[in-house]
Amino acid sequence: MKIDIISVQPKMFEGFLGESIVARAIRKGACDIRILDLRDFAHDRHRKVDDRPYGGGPGMLMTCAPWFEAVESTEPAGARVIMTSPAGRRFDQRAAEELSREERLVFMCGHYEGFDARIETLATDMFSIGDFVMTGGELAAAAMVDSIVRLLPGVLGGGPAAVRNESFGRDGLLEAPQYTHPPEFRGMEVPAVLRGGDHAKIEAWKRAEARKLTARLRPDLEQ
Ligand SMILES: C[S@@+](CC[C@H](N)C(=O)[O-])C[C@H]1O[C@@H](n2cnc3c(N)ncnc32)[C@H](O)[C@@H]1O
Repeated sequence: MKIDIISVQPKMFEGFLGESIVARAIRKGACDIRILDLRDFAHDRHRKVDDRPYGGGPGMLMTCAPWFEAVESTEPAGARVIMTSPAGRRFDQRAAEELSREERLVFMCGHYEGFDARIETLATDMFSIGDFVMTGGELAAAAMVDSIVRLLPGVLGGGPAAVRNESFGRDGLLEAPQYTHPPEFRGMEVPAVLRGGDHAKIEAWKRAEARKLTARLRPDLEQ
């Protein structure tokens, strides 16, 4: 998968691309991620990419020309071009799965008071990571890319099963509680069934616990 991320704060991605699962995915060749500095597509001395809004109002808006040039430079035909915006479709695991099947993604990170409305014509999709407003789209793009890249074949150690059994996986429920060593800690014991070695019983326990946890914490997920 090839991913282009366009931003006025390209340095924000340095740690993200250099660490963890995303770095491993890049090393393994599962994805190629390129960060484009929007200011490289501004042609004035100050590399200006914003201006005052028509009709008044506080703050500055991102202007059309650098965005059109930047997105066009990625040769976006056939790619999903994703505008980050609080107004977008709510990003969730289903969206991550859908986007993980694409060959090419382009992320547009807004800033200031957002985009001139005409810039939306460049996008095939608009995604929000929640009903709150951040100062820029960089963290939103990073969150989406992280959740997409870990779904690419060969990226996670446990293979397809590792994601199937996670929250929002196979049956849309939360993942059942998990335990590791020691078997008892400050009076809290690991459930006996998990230590018994009967895989059918362990599976049945996990399904029942996943249902209970979902009913308690996220009843909205229950069908
Ligand atoms: C300060 S916000 C602009 C908010 C805009 N004036 C509004 O009221 O909807 C600047 C940029 O951050 C990004 N952004 C902020 N919140 C976001 C969210 N919840 N999901 C995705 N992107 C977000 C978008 O790219 C947005 O253009």
